Amino acid sequence: MTHFRPTSILAGLALATSVFAMNAHASDPTTPPVPPVFPAEGKIKYVARDSIEEFKALPEYHEPDWVTEKFVKTGKLPPVKDRLPKEPLVFKTGNMPDGTGVYGDTLRHVIGGRPEGWNYGAGQSQGWGGIDIGLSECLTRTAPLFQVEAKDTEPLPNLAKSWDWSPDGHKLTMHLIEGAKWSDGYPFNADDVMFYWDDEVVDPNVSPLNGATPETFGVGTTLKKIDDYTVEWTFKDAFPKQYLYAMAYGTFCPGPAHILKPQHPKYSKNTYEQFKNAFPPEYMNMPVMGAWVPVEYRPDDIIVMRRNPYYWKVDEKGNQLPYLNELHYKLSTWADRDVQAVAGSGDISNLEQPENFVASLKKAAQPDAPARLAFGPRLIGYNLRMNFSANGWGNPDERSQAIRELNRNEDFRKAVTMALDRKAIGDSLVKGPFTAIYPGGLSSGTSFYDRNSTVYYPFDLAGAKAELAKAGLKDTDGDGFVNFPAGTAGGKDVEVVLLVNNDYTTDKTLAEGVVGQMEKLGIRVVINALSGNQRDDANYSGRFDWMVQRNATELSSVVQNTEQLAPIGPRTSWDHRAPENGQVDLMPFEKDLVDIVNKFTSTQDNDKRAELMKQFQKVSTENVYNVGLTEYPGALIINKRFSNIPQGTPIFMFNWAEDSIIRERLWVAADKQGKYELFPQQLPGKPGASGPIN
Ligand code: GLA
Ligand code: CA
Repeated sequence: MTHFRPTSILAGLALATSVFAMNAHASDPTTPPVPPVFPAEGKIKYVARDSIEEFKALPEYHEPDWVTEKFVKTGKLPPVKDRLPKEPLVFKTGNMPDGTGVYGDTLRHVIGGRPEGWNYGAGQSQGWGGIDIGLSECLTRTAPLFQVEAKDTEPLPNLAKSWDWSPDGHKLTMHLIEGAKWSDGYPFNADDVMFYWDDEVVDPNVSPLNGATPETFGVGTTLKKIDDYTVEWTFKDAFPKQYLYAMAYGTFCPGPAHILKPQHPKYSKNTYEQFKNAFPPEYMNMPVMGAWVPVEYRPDDIIVMRRNPYYWKVDEKGNQLPYLNELHYKLSTWADRDVQAVAGSGDISNLEQPENFVASLKKAAQPDAPARLAFGPRLIGYNLRMNFSANGWGNPDERSQAIRELNRNEDFRKAVTMALDRKAIGDSLVKGPFTAIYPGGLSSGTSFYDRNSTVYYPFDLAGAKAELAKAGLKDTDGDGFVNFPAGTAGGKDVEVVLLVNNDYTTDKTLAEGVVGQMEKLGIRVVINALSGNQRDDANYSGRFDWMVQRNATELSSVVQNTEQLAPIGPRTSWDHRAPENGQVDLMPFEKDLVDIVNKFTSTQDNDKRAELMKQFQKVSTENVYNVGLTEYPGALIINKRFSNIPQGTPIFMFNWAEDSIIRERLWVAADKQGKYELFPQQLPGKPGASGPIN
């Protein structure tokens, strides 16, 4: 396996800074400059989609010896063959970078988020960093598709082991894995799927964490149970294969109905708030379909997860996965995740905050460095998003309502985008060939990106001020900040509240850059920095004027979370949702975006889809639907002792690297295993019990 040598990029840094040309002072829209070549991008080894996994029974199955000795032989657990489904999911050896593995060791994560509780289906965050991704298993899986050629790309089977379309393409029958069990041994079946659909997605009082709504699966779509292992979808469109992506992480990952249902208001005396909070972080051994189960939680310290004895995936030799016995989630900061990963006290990080690039590269370049570091494509991007609802989403006061009206004014948006010096913004994060000028719209790293369809309004402060005047804004009291026209918001200075995630240095650096550059334009921006969970709540409930947002998957993959590209439903977009009992008050160009996205979803022809995304990019960037700030590549940092890390894994594409690397297949050679297990030879206990059993 080849990994690029960090030394070479360090040597190239000084030189690379000089290749930037200054922007010409022209206010005419143009295409964005060609991004600087980034020399260190890891090479992906492309494979056929069907070479990754299959479902079949194997002649024999194995588990760690201590599980057999301590749990099976003592009657605490049934034999492994009886804990596995009829036909487990089998990872093919040919697709494993280092082949089948051995049992043992721990993967030590560090995260900056904090758990709200375990009720993912009711919208609770577990603190991110891949913890929820590991707990959830979804009908389909898309993260590993980064290694599949685009033409061959269709979501992989997962909890749905196969599916067939009716001849007219309006019905999709999904066959669920048969005989799989939750981590507490309770059978998984169509009732879990139906509970998620009926009582979490369709019930308007519940919002699953990653924002699944009925429209995520198409307006008018229905789902019904046929039998214990069969469910049937009915769609308005014919063959909307696009929705197979919505059935992957994070929008179709059912929770344990046998535990959740008794707490849901429809089946209990609970309120919706009580339902949401019924499984606080202290609740241990929450049943999961994922490879590890949370068994220990120490606030601001650690979450420990142990192997799921009922996990339903195996290797070709019949070894029950995962190979790793334990997972740690140290509760620290996101910046510390990079520091610990390069130092070797943590095992994995998505190097995504450019402020840490140079120090991390230097550490990783040392000959005895414990971790390797590999960059991927330029898929990390940031946008400034404006709240486009003028009909009440988030209950704005008079000032905020006046800002929303401005946000809906094209001249105003042009003024904002033209006042941004994106070269300076990029350099404020890191110097070198990392950051690129990003006008907004699709990320330049996706296969759907077309530079010639991208409209860029170059930095031009004088031109920006002229646009602001066109929007009717003047500084009437001479304090340097433009005022609302008399009669609007008391004619006061225009003051924009910018929602920012306080957990990331990069988000704060970018926000400060925006404040400074808007000041030069004559707009006062005030930062509202909240912790990640609170920031997300403010976003979803519409309590913001503008926000700094790290791009989500719809912009890095297009096919994943496509519904978030435009306000196609009342609660699908980031920046424009319906107020309660209301509709989304779409602007004309947003209607065009919605049409394009809907056509994209219902179209099978790849050339037509590519063409539609060119149109999307044009309409979106021409109208400044979102205001791009910067984009750059991220790097995966992973401790050298781990085997089976796919070459060139991007930290973000269809999903985050934590899923793309397929953690259940990772292993550590016996002579390299660390002594990190906090609960050696122990397994998860009963749901709600205070810890593991031994
Ligand atoms: C956070 C981190 C990302 C990634 C995701 C996974 O957002 O910043 O790098 O780990 O969590 O959900
Ligand atoms: Ca003023």
